[in-house]
Amino acid sequence: MKIIRQLPEMQAYAEQQRALGKTLGFVPTMGALHEGHLSLIHRAKKENHQVIVSIFVNPTQFGVNEDFDQYPRNLEADSALAKEAGADVIFSPIASDMYPAHFSTRITMGTIAEGLCGKYRSGHFDGVAIVVNKLFHLVNPHRAYFGQKDAQQVQVIRQMVADLNMRVEIIACPIIREADGLAMSSRNAYLSEKERVSARLLNQALLKGCQYIKEGHENPQELHQMMKEFLESDPQIQIQYIEILHPTTLEPVSTLKTPLMIALAVFIGNTRLIDNTIID
Ligand code: PAJ
Repeated sequence: MKIIRQLPEMQAYAEQQRALGKTLGFVPTMGALHEGHLSLIHRAKKENHQVIVSIFVNPTQFGVNEDFDQYPRNLEADSALAKEAGADVIFSPIASDMYPAHFSTRITMGTIAEGLCGKYRSGHFDGVAIVVNKLFHLVNPHRAYFGQKDAQQVQVIRQMVADLNMRVEIIACPIIREADGLAMSSRNAYLSEKERVSARLLNQALLKGCQYIKEGHENPQELHQMMKEFLESDPQIQIQYIEILHPTTLEPVSTLKTPLMIALAVFIGNTRLIDNTIID
């Protein structure tokens, strides 16, 4: 497995592989790899000749009071995990190469980035869009793999790719969970033992929501209330949002007619966790 840090080297490698007729699968990450990330690498390996995994903690997608400094970084351990999962290249660019002193281009995402997390993380999806755009230009992949865990991120990327006529296929992959249902996340490492127990309630709330819909209830406000009461039964959990939406447009629904997505964000202590589920 190759480790590439220089931007021109990444571009030259992609060009060379394309000239050889190889298809390139790309998995963008911020590192601290876990089974969720590895599932994307496995899928990319099945569908492409070459798999490129980027590891870059992107400063432009973190808000001023967020965890950029604290975010776990361990290139060596991540490289070993990615290699074992089937990565052919780790692309780990240097921040000052990605954003040199006079970097001046901005992307402003429209309505798709306004609800859900976008409402509480101002500028976050603009930062995701600019870095993913840059990474697509550097890696020039045929296909790029994203986790449904970050459901709004998938739709933001799809929108950008469509709007800017980018020639890359976006593939969304299922959420990988711990044995007790907690969606895997690099941020789970921030949780204390006690908080980790409370974190189980996120998935349990979503399962209760699914059950409620399957029972034939039609009112989204009642579903919202039921889930809110369930999560609030644990004083460690501070709800940021619970939303019931259409899974691709991300527009709130007025009746519980499938397909639906239930998405939520909570704070447990200082740790912000998100989760979602789609009901077809
Ligand atoms: P990061 O949080 O490292 O996630 C990288 C990819 O792994 C994302 O597509 C995310 O949705 C996926 N992922 C994370 N947890 C998952 C889980 N439990 N199951 C399945 N997939 C999971 O998302 C980012 O980085 C950044 O915003 C990035 C796209 C790299 C741009 O900086």
